[in-house]
Amino acid sequence: MKKLLFGALTLGLMAACTNDSMTNQNETQANEQALLTESTQKRECASEEIRQEALLNNPELRQKYNELETNTEKFSQNIKLGKVLTDGTVEIPVVVNILYSNAAENLSDARIAEQIDVLNADYSGTNTDISKVPTEFQSVKAGDVKVKFRLANTVRKSTTTTSWVKDTMKKSANGGIDATSPANYLNIWIVGKVVSSTGKTILGYATFPESAGLWNDGVVIPAPYFGKTGAAANFNLGRTATHEVGHYLNLRHIWGDAKCGDDLVADTPTQTSENYNTPSYPLYNRCSGKNRSVMFMNYMDYVNDAAMFMFSAGQKARMQSVVAASGARAGLRVY
Ligand code: ARG
Ligand code: ZN
Ligand code: CA
Repeated sequence: MKKLLFGALTLGLMAACTNDSMTNQNETQANEQALLTESTQKRECASEEIRQEALLNNPELRQKYNELETNTEKFSQNIKLGKVLTDGTVEIPVVVNILYSNAAENLSDARIAEQIDVLNADYSGTNTDISKVPTEFQSVKAGDVKVKFRLANTVRKSTTTTSWVKDTMKKSANGGIDATSPANYLNIWIVGKVVSSTGKTILGYATFPESAGLWNDGVVIPAPYFGKTGAAANFNLGRTATHEVGHYLNLRHIWGDAKCGDDLVADTPTQTSENYNTPSYPLYNRCSGKNRSVMFMNYMDYVNDAAMFMFSAGQKARMQSVVAASGARAGLRVY
């Protein structure tokens, strides 16, 4: 491809040279009409001529040129294939890796489809409960995050392991499933159960964008908290995936994982700590001498699935920067 591009370049330069010598001949004829024609011609393509000479003399520039054209071609292809929509929407291809130790954990295709639908609703702000956003937060809600999800593949594997620690489920050598091209696909592992080092049951966890493309990159969610129909009470609206994919796209917990911590998002009010269950609105927290109404209905808090229903505009900006062409997860656009 690169050779082809450079070949075309060389041809182009030869064509330009041919034009130049013809122009010189015209100049020697020196009648007024010819001069007029010539001056019109000279206004035409100086940029391209100068560029071609620079490219011939500068291999670094040539490489940049080739990369530029390769990227441009990829982008056009992605638009054509509907991968990057013209409004800037990025469609993330998802691979679901299921490790089941009984039939109930071997989630149906319908259950997976349900979860993908929840992600698409929550990330486009078309979830039915978006109407519950309190008036005071309506001006900062994200609207359409412009990230979509499409199921690319489901990998199923029977196992005798019923409870997993850390990233063991991500290696076939441990009886797990290896990620599918993690730079290009969001891998989600479904297992029976995940326990922390202190023995606590975990709803899910994700890698952040600095892990893009590594063997362990992706999201882990135990079967009871994935999808809706048949999922475990209080976590059966598919919001664990919404929350984990938020981390995957660089969102921190809304309380900044510290007392009155910072989530690096300006429009989410500083709050003292995480919230559980279904808090009643309004809820005020005091941080550095200031009382603020807490946005506990944000997907990045710890409340029940039914109590969380919004991202903020500031969170949207962080996520978009990650999937942008220059972002850490730009690889998700190319497949
Ligand atoms: N505890 C998990 C985490 O911090 C997930 C919390 C999800 N909450 C929910 N209501 N589904 O990543
Ligand atoms: Zn979290
Ligand atoms: Ca904040």
